[in-house]
Amino acid sequence: MPPEQGFVPSLHYRPLTPLYDVFIRLGLKEKAFRGKLIKHAGIVPDHLVLDVGCGTATLTLMVKKAQPEAVVTGFDYDLDALAFARRKITRARLDIALVRGTALELPFADMSFERVLSSLMFHHLTTENKQRAFREIFRILKPGGEFYLADFGPPNSRLMRFLTFVVGRFEKLSDNTGGRLPVMMAEAGFTDVAHLDDYNTVFGTVAFYKGKRRAR
Ligand SMILES: C[S@@+](CC[C@H](N)C(=O)[O-])C[C@H]1O[C@@H](n2cnc3c(N)ncnc32)[C@H](O)[C@@H]1O
Repeated sequence: MPPEQGFVPSLHYRPLTPLYDVFIRLGLKEKAFRGKLIKHAGIVPDHLVLDVGCGTATLTLMVKKAQPEAVVTGFDYDLDALAFARRKITRARLDIALVRGTALELPFADMSFERVLSSLMFHHLTTENKQRAFREIFRILKPGGEFYLADFGPPNSRLMRFLTFVVGRFEKLSDNTGGRLPVMMAEAGFTDVAHLDDYNTVFGTVAFYKGKRRAR
């Protein structure tokens, strides 16, 4: 794919994608971590919800199970990850749409969603692509809509600093660890930007952020 699409597979190398779910299950207390993000998001019946960079759709499925009356869509560039996602969704017999494309140019109309969530995708993007993706997410949110982001944040202990240093050998973490994600969110137009929580993992500190599109 053209490099400007800014896509990196979930574990950096395509042959590792089948191992992603096991890797994350071992590395994060996944249910608690994702459950916390979903709780923050306050999704109610009839909300249109998008999971950007859904990968194998673990979060997407949890959103739908937590609020079956919401209309949930998973979005990712990686066809391999989306194939895993489709199998999981079929097994769970849930009605979830999957859409393929790049977060740098979301194929959705302006003001389409009440909630957008994204977990562990932004650290795959360059600074410029993070800014583009934030602008795109802002564009597709309805007025009053909210964006909930979970991704690496500033490490909150010496151990977390060490773990982040190790992960930082492989990923584009400097914007994350430098605390610049909320600044970029505000620059993209989000209001009420807040750092809600930290979640310490074996990969380092994951921060939860919120941003809102002002109601008209
Ligand atoms: C580490 S995985 C996280 C998957 C899932 N959100 C989770 O929490 O397990 C990152 C995902 O972001 C996707 N991704 C990376 N860059 C992307 C882009 N520019 N557009 C769409 N998806 C992208 C990758 O394909 C991958 O599935």
